[in-house]
Amino acid sequence: MKRRLVSTLIGMTMVAVMLGGCGGGTDTTEEAADDTAAEAEADESGDEAASGDLITVGYAQVGHESDWRTANTENYQNTFTAENGYELSFVDADNDNATQIEAVRTFIQQELDYIVIAPIETAGWDTVLEEADSAGIPVIIADREIDSDNYDAFVGTDSVAEGVTAGNWLGEYLDGAEANILVIEGSVGASAALGRTEGFNSVADEHSEWTILDSQSGDFTQSGGQEVMESFIKSYEGQFNVVVCQNDNEAYGAMDAMDAAGITYGVDGDVIIISFDATHDGLQYTLGGKINCDVECNPIQAEIVAEVIQAMEAGEEYPERTIVEDSAFVAPGIESAFATEMTQEILDGRAY
Ligand code: AHR
Repeated sequence: MKRRLVSTLIGMTMVAVMLGGCGGGTDTTEEAADDTAAEAEADESGDEAASGDLITVGYAQVGHESDWRTANTENYQNTFTAENGYELSFVDADNDNATQIEAVRTFIQQELDYIVIAPIETAGWDTVLEEADSAGIPVIIADREIDSDNYDAFVGTDSVAEGVTAGNWLGEYLDGAEANILVIEGSVGASAALGRTEGFNSVADEHSEWTILDSQSGDFTQSGGQEVMESFIKSYEGQFNVVVCQNDNEAYGAMDAMDAAGITYGVDGDVIIISFDATHDGLQYTLGGKINCDVECNPIQAEIVAEVIQAMEAGEEYPERTIVEDSAFVAPGIESAFATEMTQEILDGRAY
C-alpha cells in the first residue's frame, strides 16, 4: 500500500493560499472580493457548505443488492453530514464495474478532498487509482479488498476469517458426521465472495467426510439465491444436507426455494443453513431456528473511515489497515465455541 505524505499535501495547500494572496489563481480582484463577502455571509448564516469549510468526500458504493448494503449506505449518509463537517457525494453503482470506475473518475474531476470506494470487484483498479494518485486525492478502500495497493488506507472486514468461522462452526456442529454441501456464492470477483469461499474451503479441506457438491453465484441477492437454489434442487434433491449462503438475502431466497419444494431446513429440518452478514432479519431467522449459523459481516464502517480522514486532515499517522470486528450467531439450543447463541435481547439490539 502506498503511503502518501499528508504533510506534502498540506504544504501544497499553503502554497496555493499564498499564491492566492499574491494575486495568483484565476479570480479577478473583484470576483475574489465578492467571494470573500459571500463566504462571510455564509459564515454568519452558519452555512459551512457555502463557506467552503466542509471536507468533500466521494463514496462509490457497490449498489443496493442486499440489506447489508442498505445499512452500509445509511451509515455513510448519517456519518458524512454537513453537521459533522462533510459534504458527501454518493454514487450507487448498481453492481456495475464500469459505472463505479466512472464515478471515481468524476470525483477526481470534481477535485473532491477524499475518495472512498467499496469495490464491486477486486480487479481493474490500476488506471483510475493512478489518476487519483496523480491528482493528489487520498483514496480509502472500504468494505471489500482490491488487487492493487495504490491507495492510502483500507477499512473493512476479513472475509477469509468469516469463511473460516463458518467452516469451524460446521465442523463442531457435525462432529464427524458426513456433509454434502451446496454453496451459493456472492458476486463473482468480489473479495467478500472470494474470501468466504477461500476460508470455508480451507476448513473443508481438513474434513474428508465433507463433499462440496456444487458452488454457484447468487450475486448477493435474494432473487439470485432463490434461482440458484431452485437449480440446485433440480440437480441434487435428496443428496444435500448443508446449504452455505454467502449473505442473508441469498439465504432468504434459498429458504423460499426449499419451502416451495417441501424441503425442511434449520435446527428441526433436514438441511443445515449457514449464512453471512447477521443483519436484523437474518438474526430473526436464526433466533427462530431457520438459519443454524449466521456469521457477521459488520456494515457499520463509516465512523472508522471518518476517523482515518480526520487523521489525514490533521497530518497525523493513520492506520493503513483497519479490520472491523465480526462475530457469529447460532440458533437457540446450539452450544458453540465459535458463535454466540441467539437471544431476543441480541435481536432487539441489532439496528441494521
Ligand atoms: O461486501 C459485503 C457483502 O456485500 C455483504 O455480505 C453482502 O450482503 C453485500 O452485498
